[in-house]
Amino acid sequence: MTKRALTGIKPTGEPHLGNWLGAIQPALELAKEHETFYFIADYHALTSVHTAEEMRRHVRSIAAAYLAFGLDPEKSFFYRQSDIPEIFELSWILSCFTPKGFMNRAHAYKDLVAKNLAEKHDPDDGVNMGLFGYPVLMSADILMFNADVVPVGADQKQHVEFARDIAERFNKNYGETVFHLPEPRISDHVKTVVGLDGRKMSKSYDNTIPLFSDEKALLKRINQIVTNSQAPEEPKEPDQSHIFALHRLLLSGSEEKDLRAKYQAGGMGWGMAKKLFFECLNEKLKGPRTEYNRLLAEEGHIEAVLAKGKGRSRAEAGKLLAKVRELVGIQ
Ligand code: ADP
Ligand code: TRP
Repeated sequence: MTKRALTGIKPTGEPHLGNWLGAIQPALELAKEHETFYFIADYHALTSVHTAEEMRRHVRSIAAAYLAFGLDPEKSFFYRQSDIPEIFELSWILSCFTPKGFMNRAHAYKDLVAKNLAEKHDPDDGVNMGLFGYPVLMSADILMFNADVVPVGADQKQHVEFARDIAERFNKNYGETVFHLPEPRISDHVKTVVGLDGRKMSKSYDNTIPLFSDEKALLKRINQIVTNSQAPEEPKEPDQSHIFALHRLLLSGSEEKDLRAKYQAGGMGWGMAKKLFFECLNEKLKGPRTEYNRLLAEEGHIEAVLAKGKGRSRAEAGKLLAKVRELVGIQ
C-alpha cells in the first residue's frame, strides 16, 4: 500500500529561502512516492499570531507559495487545519490520553519556562494553553489521517514522537490498532540555510532572503550579505563565505566545484560574487514568483482551492473519527 506523508506549515510570516530549501522543496519531493497531505496549521499559528489581518495574509501567502512551487491540489490533500473540525475533536480525545507530566517536557514549553526562570520572571509568563497543548493538537493532525511519514525540521522531531506515544497509549487501551505509528523524516541532505549575517536564516533574526519580492528588492537584500574586507584581487576561502554557503545550495556538484575554483583563484570581488548568486537565484525564482503573484491576484482562487481540499479531507477524516467515537463510546 502507498505510504502516507503529511506535513503542516505554520502561517507565521512571509516565506523565505530557508523555508523553501528546508521545508517546501523536501515536502513536495515526497509526492513522487507517497500519498501526500499538506495543510496550513492556522490553529497552531494562533498561539502567537493574534491579529486577524495578519493571520489571513499569512494563510494566503503560504498557500500561494506551495502552489507556486508545484503542489498539485488534485493529487495531494491540501487544506486549512481549521477547516477540519474533526481534527479539533480528535485533539480533545487525545488530550485525555496524554499525561500532563509528558507535556511539561515538550521543548517549546520547556524552553520558554527556562528563559523565564533565567530572567527571573514567573515561569509561565507568556505561556498560553494553546502553546502548552501544542503537541496534542499536532498529534491529532498526524493521527487524523494515519500518516506513516512526517517530514519536519529537527526541532519538531519530539512532537512526532509524542504523536507516536499517544497513538500507542490509545491503541493499547482499546486493544485495537486504530492509529498508525508515524515516523519523523528529517532530511539529512538539507542543512540549515544561513541568513545574511551567517546565523540560521529566520524571520526572528531579520536576516532572511524573501522568495517573492521583486528583482530589485531581491538584489538589494543579497547585497546586504555580510562579507569580510578582502579586496577583489585576493583569493577567497569559499567555506568562510555566507554568499558561497547560500549559492552552493542551488548548484549541482560540478557547478559547485567550478564556483569554488572561481573564489579560490582571486580576481572576483564580493560584489561580483553577490551578482552571480543573485542571477542564479533569480532565474530559479522567476517562474514561481510570476505564479505566486498570479494566484494572489486572482480573486477567490486560493479560497476555492482550499474549499475543495476541505471537502476531500473531511470525508477522509470523518471515517476515522467515526471509528474512534465508537471505540470510546461517545456516539
Ligand atoms: P522561521 O525560523 O523563519 O520562523 P519557521 O520556523 O516558520 O521559520 O520554519 C518553517 C519551516 O521551514 C520549518 O520546517 C523549518 O525547518 C524550515 N526552515 C526555516 N528556516 C530554515 C533554515 N534557515 N534552514 C532550513 N530550514 C529552515
Ligand atoms: N509544528 C510544526 C512547525 O512548527 C507545524 C505543524 C503543525 C506540523 N502540525 C503538524 C508539522 C503536523 C508536521 C505535522 O513547523
